[in-house]
Amino acid sequence: MAPRSRTAVALPPIPAGDLADLPPLSRDQKIALLAQWESELRAASAPFLNDLATKVVPGEGDVDAPIVFVGEGPGVEEDRLGRPFVGRSGQLLDKMIVAMGFQRQQIYIANIVKLRCAEWDETLGRVKDRPPTPEDAARGLPWLHRQIEIIRPKVIVTLGAPAIKYLIGETEGVMKIRGTWRQYRGLPLMPTYHPAFVLRAYTPENRGKVWSDLQQVMKVLGMAAK
Ligand code: URA
Repeated sequence: MAPRSRTAVALPPIPAGDLADLPPLSRDQKIALLAQWESELRAASAPFLNDLATKVVPGEGDVDAPIVFVGEGPGVEEDRLGRPFVGRSGQLLDKMIVAMGFQRQQIYIANIVKLRCAEWDETLGRVKDRPPTPEDAARGLPWLHRQIEIIRPKVIVTLGAPAIKYLIGETEGVMKIRGTWRQYRGLPLMPTYHPAFVLRAYTPENRGKVWSDLQQVMKVLGMAAK
């Protein structure tokens, strides 16, 4: 297992300024900027690839997406395919997206970290995914900030505790703050539960909370809930 640093890690600051104040980007400009961003991300990430994190998982979706969903980081399936949210959590996220009236390819899905975080678990006798450490997040965040700056969605939805904690430095737990609007560079940001949590605690209450959070997002986008 890689040793974890005990010293506090300073997270890179959120870039200054509201996204709405930046000069507008055409679709073609966004595509070109994201392609450049991705090739720089791949080059910077290459030294960190290993047996457990075999691929970079940059994120995917429409460059003009109205919503960017931000998860925590790739798991084993995402690492195998190099795509975000393609495992069991991804299947539930897809259902959430469809329930909102979108297809997956119409929105954008990203993560705090772009490489799988996993370690050997002595007790389990197998490799286990682990939450990103502050060091992992500090490496991934500048890439995510730039990614969001290029896409400039209308709304951001964070999935789970690490996503909201690391993206905006939120100190309250997700149980307490889900369903309440936050801001990211002038954009409305809705924190909700991670699909993996909902799958673990698959109760009508938890599903209802996530749906109510997503309905608030739809309202901001001017969409009527079906
Ligand atoms: N969980 C995440 O947070 N991100 C993924 O891409 C997959 C699972």
